[in-house]
Amino acid sequence: MSEDRVLLVEKKDRIATLTINRPDKMNALNGEVRRALVDALAQLRNDSDVRVVVITGAGEKAFIAGADIGEFKDARPVDQYRAMQEGDIFSAIERFPKPVIAMINGFCLGGGCELAMACDIRIASADARLGQPETNLGIIPGGGGTQRLPRLVRQGIALRLIYTGDLVKSDYAYEIGLVDEVVPHAELAARTMELAGKIASRSPASLQAAKECVRAAWRMPLDEGLKYEKLWFGLLFSTDDMSEGVSAFLEKREPEFKGS
Ligand code: COA
Repeated sequence: MSEDRVLLVEKKDRIATLTINRPDKMNALNGEVRRALVDALAQLRNDSDVRVVVITGAGEKAFIAGADIGEFKDARPVDQYRAMQEGDIFSAIERFPKPVIAMINGFCLGGGCELAMACDIRIASADARLGQPETNLGIIPGGGGTQRLPRLVRQGIALRLIYTGDLVKSDYAYEIGLVDEVVPHAELAARTMELAGKIASRSPASLQAAKECVRAAWRMPLDEGLKYEKLWFGLLFSTDDMSEGVSAFLEKREPEFKGS
């Protein structure tokens, strides 16, 4: 792990931790970070040693304080459009076939909040602050915030947060459904790794199928979603992991999933 990189990648116990490493800029997302994230996910996709990914920010203050505002200054519309298309980290996370957990260790703003919302589970430090402050800059969220936020929280709350740009505390974010768990700052890493470890012990094929199906619930009508779930359910009967899981239960032992 090289400390001068904008993205640190650490693999341990089947968990890959991606740490955005620009603490002096509150881990703001510039083009280099976005490309590094997309590349890292592309590599981890087929890495059978990795079953869960955790994304976090370096330092004590910020998870990600949004897009790098410095890059907005002279960007032409077409440059900005291309940057968002080429470095579409939000879709890359959502479509990544393994669980992704956002470990929110501080300011989680703008594109940072959008990145967290693209993750499957959000665990926040009690000291974190979240928000979509783009209207202060004369823009709107461009990384999915106007779409994912109202799917997680009530529409009026989503609009209020986006209209005002107000930052909210983790406890409130939990109340409205924007984060899934709040823990004392000192316990954030341990709790996140505990959860990631538990998930990593499950069958990778089950995890992929679960993510595909639950994600599909956002975009499919119920009838289609139920059919989609049945297809995945049937498909899993072709895996060795399914045979292992059922055998282990019947033999009263812990299963050992190999991901095949
Ligand atoms: N893009 C680029 N640089 C950023 C940044 C961003 N989104 N957020 C913070 N930084 C930089 C600051 O410019 C500053 O750099 P400098 O030391 O070279 O001047 C450094 O990070 C520290 O930030 P600072 O503002 O001094 O810290 P703070 O504790 O007073 O405030 C925030 C922290 C996060 C509240 C504040 O930095 C902020 O509002 N950032 C912008 C958030 C935002 O609008 N995000 C949406 C972007 S679309």
